[in-house]
This record gives sequence, structure tokens and C-alpha cells, in this order.
Amino acid sequence: MREALTAWTIWARTIHVRAQHHREERDLRTSPRASTPRRYLMCPPTYYRVTYSINPWMDPGKPVDLQLALAQWEELRDRYRALGHTVDELAPRPGLPDMVFAANGATVVDGRVLGARFAHPERWAEAAAHREWFRAHGYEAVREPEHINEGEGDFAVTATWLLAGRGFRSSPLSHPEAQEFFGRPVIGLDLVDPRYYHLDTALCVLDDAADEVMYYPGAFSAGSRAVLERLFPDALIATEEDAAALGLNAVSDGKHVLLPQAAVGLFEPLRARGYEPIGMDLGELLKGGGSVKCCTQELR
Ligand code: ARG
Repeated sequence: MREALTAWTIWARTIHVRAQHHREERDLRTSPRASTPRRYLMCPPTYYRVTYSINPWMDPGKPVDLQLALAQWEELRDRYRALGHTVDELAPRPGLPDMVFAANGATVVDGRVLGARFAHPERWAEAAAHREWFRAHGYEAVREPEHINEGEGDFAVTATWLLAGRGFRSSPLSHPEAQEFFGRPVIGLDLVDPRYYHLDTALCVLDDAADEVMYYPGAFSAGSRAVLERLFPDALIATEEDAAALGLNAVSDGKHVLLPQAAVGLFEPLRARGYEPIGMDLGELLKGGGSVKCCTQELR
């Protein structure tokens, strides 16, 4: 009977009824989740330190165990490879302790590379290291951006949109720049809580072929929350506790979702949707304000 509903009828319903409809449809799905092979760019934490503070997670007084950071990072890299994904490594550079957060260095969609331009001088030099890597690896469309954008820290790719965070790091002017470069509609989202200073600390794309996301509403302005409800009525909503464990700083391949293991509340809801959550311990990198996604740039 539901199949007979026209699109118009669905649109005429309230957002909550629509969410219910999506949930039912998902419950009825018979095909299991499928992962698709991905290519990731990661940078080992060879020179990782917390020597300055540019987000509330960073406390330069707190020591970092570099050996442990390296072991945690290698475990993430090896896990991707064991799942069948390709991981390329970017050579770390001394004096750039945040370079391990490779997601911030660029945004790649359809082989087109929008370089980063960092907000804080401590990270400025990372942008060129990324652009040089892409040029050396045969990428032709590599743009040095005009406006500040911190790569996939603030840009998230869904099937239909390029979601774009602003408020702490990326400039609102980087949004039209990205839209023009990628030819994808950009949805600007206002981040309001300094703990969630990048979009990828507050929202994760679970299925990039079907516009499915999870997010923490408290990280966004009221207007942006309304936009997210409108675009993603059946999104997985994270609790404050799971968001505070950086649980949304996750990477999905369409089936496996690698996320901080401390975000325990997300595991069951993910399983209920057919995903396979894989908890990772990146505790040493959390001291820099990052976790799974921050360490992982996707080369689409
Ligand atoms: N210390 C880094 C910064 O504040 C952490 C970056 C985390 N990366 C991310 N994609 N959220 O810039």
C-alpha cells in the first residue's frame, strides 16, 4: 500500500511522519549493507605533539605518548587495509605536529582536488604539502583555494550535497568556491559549540550513495538543525555523550563504520541500521582534538 503513495503525498506529511516512513522502509529492506572499496590518504604521527592549543581539546601541558599514538594510528591504517581499502601515505614534515590530521589537507571529489587554506598559522604549511602530493600523484585538477577551508574537516560529501561547516575554521566564502569547483550543491551549516569546531566532529556520512548521516544536533545553530532535519529526516541522532567521545568523527565505507570505541551508545543504533561498527582507540590523537575521521582523507 505504501508503495502506492505518491511523492506528493509524502511531501504533504509532516517531517516526523516522513521520518517514520523512512524507518519502515529501511526495516523492510532485504539487501544487506555493502561496502565499496575506498582510497584513503593518511599521514603518520611521526612529529605529532600538542605544543599549541587551537581547539578546546588541546592542552599543551598534557604529555602525549608518541609511541602509543603511532601504534594507534597504525592500527587504524591496517584496519582499513584489512577491509580491502587502499591507504596512501603522505610523508610527515617536522614542525607540523597536526599533519597527522590528514582529513584537513584537501577535499577530493571525482578526482578533483580543492586544496586547503588553514585558519591558524601553525597549520598553514600543511596545505602545500598536500597539494604537492596530489600533483606528484597525477592529479590534474588541483586548486589552491582563495578562501579559508580546512578540507574534509568542514566538507562532507553525500550523494546529493556537499555539506559545509562554518563558524570556527572554514570561511563561509569557501562554500561558493567549493560549489563552483565541484559543481555540487553546497549546504552551509553553522557550528556553534567550540568542542565541535569542524563539521566532521559533529556529523558523519554513513551512506554516501543514499544521503544517510548521523549527527549531534547540539553542535549546530537552530537554523542549521532545521536544515538537517529537512534533508535527513531519518538520520541517526547522536547523544551528547557519544558526541563528546568524538563518536561522530567516524569513517564509513557503506557497511563498516570505524569510530572511537568510547562512543558506546552509537554501536547498537548503527547495527540496527545494518552497519558493522568497529571501535578504534585513538586516545592519544584525541589530545589533539581528532580521531578516526580526522586522520583519514578520502580520495574520491
Ligand atoms: N589539532 C587539530 C586542529 O585543531 C585537530 C584537527 C582535527 N581534524 C579534523 N578533521 N577535525 O586543527
